[in-house]
Amino acid sequence: MTLTEKDKENIQKTWALVRVDSVQAGIELFRRFFEANPDYVKVFPFDDCKDLNEILKSSTLKMHAGRVMTALSSIVDNLNDPILFQENLGKIITSHVERNIELRQFENLKMALVGLLIDKLGNDIMNDETKEAWSKAYDVILDTYKKSKENHSRSSSSL
Ligand code: HEM
Repeated sequence: MTLTEKDKENIQKTWALVRVDSVQAGIELFRRFFEANPDYVKVFPFDDCKDLNEILKSSTLKMHAGRVMTALSSIVDNLNDPILFQENLGKIITSHVERNIELRQFENLKMALVGLLIDKLGNDIMNDETKEAWSKAYDVILDTYKKSKENHSRSSSSL
C-alpha cells in the first residue's frame, strides 16, 4: 500500500489545521479514545484521578497528549522522507511493543483519530478522499506495529 502525492498533501493540509491547537486536540483525542475504551485508562499512570473528568483535566494527560501530538506531527512531517519516517515510527513502535500495548489498542486509536479529524474539520474538508488518505497512512503504522510485535514475541520465545 503506497501513499500517493495527493494522499500526503491531504494529510499534511488537514493536520496543519488540527495541530494549531495541539495540546487541546490531543486531550480531545484521548477523551474519544477513553470514552470508547474505558479499560485503556488503566494502561496509563492516572492513579491519582478518580474518573475520566479528572483525567481530562490532569497535568499528566496534558503532558502525554502533547507528546503524542508531537509524535504524530513528526510522522506527518516526514511523510515525504521514507528514512526519517521509518526511523521516527520505529522509535514509537519499539517503546509501545516494550510496554505490551496490543495491536487492537492501536486500531482503536485510529477510530478516535479519524473521528477527531472529522469532528474538528467537518465532512467537506475530511471528504472521502482525505479520509482514505488518513486511513492508508494509519494502516502503515498498524502494519509496522504488527510486524514488530511478531518479531518481539518470536525473539522472546527463543530466549
Ligand atoms: C499512533 C499512535 C501513538 C503514538 C504516536 C504514541 C505516542 C507516544 C509517545 C510519544 C509517548 C511518550 C514517549 C514514549 O514513551 O515513547 C507515548 C507513551 C505512552 N503511550 Fe503511546 N502512542 C500511540 C499509541 C498508543 C496506544 C494505542 C496506547 C495504548 C492504549 C499507548 C499507550 C502509551 C503509554 C501507556 C505510554 C506511557 C505513558 C506514561 O508513562 O506517561 N500509546 N506514546
